[in-house]
Amino acid sequence: MIETRPKILCVDDEPVALKLLEAVLVPKGYDVIKAENGEEALMRIREQRIDVVLLDVMIPVIDGFEVCKIIKGDEKYRNIPVVIITSLTSKGDRIKGIEAGADDFISKPFDRGEILARIKMLLKVKDLNDRLNYAYGNINSLINYGEHIIKTFDPLDLDLLSKIDSIVTQIIRQSSDMEEKPEKIVVGMLHVNGDWLWYQYDWIFKGLKRSLLKLDLHYSLDIPGKGKSRKFFYNRAELERSEFKPFITRLESAMISVSNMVSYLSSDFCIFAVNYGKNVTSYDAAVLNSLVMHTVFLKSLTLQVKETEDAFAYTVHALARASEANDDDTGNHVLRVNECCAVLAEKLGMSESFVKTIRLQAQMHDVGKIHTHPEILKKPGKLTQEEFEDMKKHTIYGAKILGDHPRLKMAKTIALTHHERWDGSGYPYGLKGEEISVEGRIVNIADQYDALRNYRVYKPAFDHETTYKIITEGDGRTMPQHFDPQVLKTFKELAPQFEEIYEKLKG
Ligand code: C2E
Ligand code: SIN
Ligand code: SIN
Ligand code: FE
Repeated sequence: MIETRPKILCVDDEPVALKLLEAVLVPKGYDVIKAENGEEALMRIREQRIDVVLLDVMIPVIDGFEVCKIIKGDEKYRNIPVVIITSLTSKGDRIKGIEAGADDFISKPFDRGEILARIKMLLKVKDLNDRLNYAYGNINSLINYGEHIIKTFDPLDLDLLSKIDSIVTQIIRQSSDMEEKPEKIVVGMLHVNGDWLWYQYDWIFKGLKRSLLKLDLHYSLDIPGKGKSRKFFYNRAELERSEFKPFITRLESAMISVSNMVSYLSSDFCIFAVNYGKNVTSYDAAVLNSLVMHTVFLKSLTLQVKETEDAFAYTVHALARASEANDDDTGNHVLRVNECCAVLAEKLGMSESFVKTIRLQAQMHDVGKIHTHPEILKKPGKLTQEEFEDMKKHTIYGAKILGDHPRLKMAKTIALTHHERWDGSGYPYGLKGEEISVEGRIVNIADQYDALRNYRVYKPAFDHETTYKIITEGDGRTMPQHFDPQVLKTFKELAPQFEEIYEKLKG
């Protein structure tokens, strides 16, 4: 039920009749808005909230039946009850009134008791109708909000404050009637350092403004019943008697006066929507609760997804290390290759997700070496033709180990193609140019840089300058035409960063 005085629009071209209605209605707590013709009546309806229309039919400009039809034909105003005032004798007027969609009739001359009884009943009906529409609007907007969340949800990048911004926007949007929305929203969040951060939201020039709120508040003292999640609603008189009185006093010392409030409290988050333009009910509290639940749910989902991601990264790394079991002294080889690949990919303008994926998955390029005989891997000297042929199979074994899981698709491609060469002289398939996956071309150069820098049983460690020279000018075994020219050019630009990464992750 609306808290303010109900507004009755009285439309009659006779000032005496208007005066009479006013004399009946005002003492009973109604506001009377007057209009002397149909056009004026419609203007009044458009400019303010009207709760009931008392409509004489014989009025100038637009007659009463027409006014009634216009009101009932408009989605926005159709819920306003229209009472048509007819003369007792005119049965025809009643029929026309019914056709125009009138909700009720009263006859001239007026009967005080009859007018008051009908208005009371119609206001009740309107209130129920309004609530129904309000609930329907809420359900629709909750569904839209849910759909929006599902579309935009990124579990690895949940910005809680921006989610709270959207909850607040939703609360505002719930109210079709501007007068019914809360005037202000106060949000408290438990910061990691144990302090509570307070924000206030105001609705300014049709935009939502969030600002930090200085609240001299000790959460556990001034906000009752911390811990368990709960929802509340209070109107002013109830607030005075409620356990929230100390909190309201704090708010008022921060210049926020409170006439009613709906809130949701948990141990690390609370939200107070204050000053709705109507009495608040358990329904408003349920709407707020449902909005908050969305966010609480996303937060816990985010934590779970992060845990799973960490476990995935850990497993990937463990598998990558296994491939080095028979390689001496490769140290952090796999981590350096990851980093070098990521900087190359970034500089080459690959997408953010590509960069992220190669940074994690490049390290598994040699996982197939698990199947290579240790005697080959540990042989101090040059490999025989036969041994090298065997060695080449680590690419195919790697792809087999990594299998067909979609999350490991890039790792598999890399294992298979990281020894292919741009000029077609590589292995296992002798692919040429763009036939080789771009991730393979990237890992190829990063892998060789690192292998050259490192000591191997069959070769000494080379310094950065020597390595740079072997890759960019060639030494017979390695030649510049082995590399994708674009990747080689990028390598030249990034060479100082490669050296930095090597030094940093020497291990
Ligand atoms: P790796 O030691 O990790 O080397 C990877 C790649 O770095 C090599 O691929 C090669 O392109 C480059 N690379 C490594 N050392 C040198 C070097 O001294 N000079 C030049 N120019 N490039 C070098 P590649 O040749 O296909 O070899 C693949 C893997 O086969 C090597 O991985 C290593 O495990 C093994 N391997 C290659 N040659 C020998 C060898 O003479 N003796 C032994 N025991 N293993 C070898
Ligand atoms: C190989 O080419 O046989 C494995 C060496 C590597 O990829 O680092
Ligand atoms: C990751 O970056 O965590 C793996 C990417 C993928 O899904 O393939
Ligand atoms: Fe390899």
